[in-house]
Amino acid sequence: MKKILIIHGVNLNLLGTRERHIYGDKTLKDIDNHLSSVFPEVTFEFFQSNHEGAIIDKLHQARDSFDGIVLNAGAYTHYSIAIRDAIASISVPVVEVHLSNIFAREEFRHKSVISAVCKGVISGFGIESYVLGVKALLGE
Ligand code: DQA
Repeated sequence: MKKILIIHGVNLNLLGTRERHIYGDKTLKDIDNHLSSVFPEVTFEFFQSNHEGAIIDKLHQARDSFDGIVLNAGAYTHYSIAIRDAIASISVPVVEVHLSNIFAREEFRHKSVISAVCKGVISGFGIESYVLGVKALLGE
């Protein structure tokens, strides 16, 4: 049984009401429920925080207890060296995901400071970005 941690970062608690033309109408709970139903064989833990330090603490705690992490860091993706260093400090593979295609949006979103320390990046497939992230961790 694989254990996978899903981390939703800053502002993602507002999914479903936030900029729906970009992020769609699915809520965070919809995403979490979708993952549980697509991967019944996986044990998931779901975590959301708007606080950089809380995300870092979660990454540290995950280092001995999960087989992989799917991380949507939200806007922290673009400037949090601290989250990047936390990912680099743990040996658990982390897949970076985004609902939107960050490369098709404003220029400041084109740069991710965490990509280089992640196993890979999936961006632009809406809720399916998370599904693809889990598949990547399962080696499917
Ligand atoms: C996002 C993209 C980020 O640029 C943005 O700040 C978010 C969400 C996405 O899932 O598309 O909050 O990570």
